Amino acid sequence: MTRARLILIFLLVLLAAAAWTARQILHHGLSARATPTRLETALARNVRHLAIPANARSLPNPVLAAPQAVREGMLHFADHCAACHANDGSGDTPYGQGLFPKPPDLRRPATQNLSDGELFWIIENGVRFTGMPAFSDHGQSPDSWKLVRFIRHLPQLTPAERAEMARNNPKTAADRAEEQEEENFLKGASPAPETEMHHHH
Ligand code: HEC
Repeated sequence: MTRARLILIFLLVLLAAAAWTARQILHHGLSARATPTRLETALARNVRHLAIPANARSLPNPVLAAPQAVREGMLHFADHCAACHANDGSGDTPYGQGLFPKPPDLRRPATQNLSDGELFWIIENGVRFTGMPAFSDHGQSPDSWKLVRFIRHLPQLTPAERAEMARNNPKTAADRAEEQEEENFLKGASPAPETEMHHHH
């Protein structure tokens, strides 16, 4: 085959790929609201699996599965992870649902079947091209191993634990203002003056 012909074929393939991509974008936009196709999800998980070094995948969890470690992992999760993953790991939060791809339900086999080392690696390094951030502080972070312990515990999370997590979720400024108001009210203080509502000229 002549060189010119090869280049022509290459350009045609490129054109076809561009046309297909343009068609996908026209039909589905670039919205993060969409759900990835099964093929996209399978490909992404395979690429991620290959990207995690084999020796990292087989690392055993150095933190024992003691209730204290699970509890510390739980409180850490409530503080840093629940905004996207929800306290129960379902991913059913306003943040989580707006991400592309969405955080998977961490209680399901797809996640639970990952090795401890793999979960640890994902927490430390994040997942590229997704909303999953890296949480490594550049050491063998015991906090991340405790999070792995907690992820294993997620399928058995009790309502009491869930309630404790809710009390440890990060508070917004609005939450704090509301709490302050309640506190003032309980102390018997007069209701907050409505200065912001009335403009004095
Ligand atoms: C800003 C949102 C966000 C935060 C915060 C976040 N995650 Fe994620 N997480 C994601 C998304 C999105 C994915 C899915 C990535 C993908 O599709 O590969 C994910 C994936 C994961 C996975 C892989 C699950 C699987 O089966 O593929 C684990 C484990 C995980 N997160 C744990 C955590 C932990 C632990 C924390 C807190 C230290 C955390 N995440 C904080 C968004 C987030």
